[in-house]
Amino acid sequence: MHKKKEIITLDGPSGVGKSTISRRIAAALGYTYLDTGAMYRAVGLHLEQMGVDIGDMNAVAANLDTLTIRLLPARSELGDTGVILNGVDISDRIRTPEMSMLASRVSAIPAVRTKLTEMQREIGAQERIVAEGRDVGTVVFPDAAYKFFLDADIQERARRRVRQLRSHGSHVDEKEILEMIRQRDKDDSERSVAPLRKAEDALLIDTTDGTIEEICAGILKKVLSGKQQKPGKSM
Ligand code: DC
Repeated sequence: MHKKKEIITLDGPSGVGKSTISRRIAAALGYTYLDTGAMYRAVGLHLEQMGVDIGDMNAVAANLDTLTIRLLPARSELGDTGVILNGVDISDRIRTPEMSMLASRVSAIPAVRTKLTEMQREIGAQERIVAEGRDVGTVVFPDAAYKFFLDADIQERARRRVRQLRSHGSHVDEKEILEMIRQRDKDDSERSVAPLRKAEDALLIDTTDGTIEEICAGILKKVLSGKQQKPGKSM
């Protein structure tokens, strides 16, 4: 694995600004941005395309053996990470609310987590990365030099998600999105393997009110100061 100081992790629930913030931090430092959620979305689509019953653990495991996932940088500042699944570009198919729910469901399957954790660690071993997800600071890169946990008020997170989906041309209802986020928070936090939680040594950042610029500046200041984090603090 790469030296500890070359990995930065950002975890947190959906709609807290993880992707935008992680991408900007990576660009500012010249690091690679690793969107682990995109990988869970790709696995969800893969299993759906293969017609696999996700309750059948053996069938799921058998369908992971030949899986290849390649991530591409977003095409614009507001765009999402591109994903090539087994050689096919699926970028435009994995960002719907339904795919978010499916990704969350498959992410609770131990074989899926083992496979993706392995792939993510391989990337971390080759490059300097800013990784974002739900378990990157707790499970995937427990030795990361800087860990952040982002959180925000759930109503604000739902409003952000709605704005993002509408900017892609989707017609979505705010109440429905709020309910989906609530369900996903619950499922992601209560699953038995690698649940969403703050690593003890991660810095907690509430993004409800601050601007993206202010939050990025705070994170960069911390990283560039070169000081190791003290557990359990908030910014
Ligand atoms: O970050 P996202 O919304 O693209 O993630 C989609 C789902 O994938 C999320 O609801 C839970 C799962 N996920 C995970 O379990 N672990 C990660 N490190 C990243 C995502």
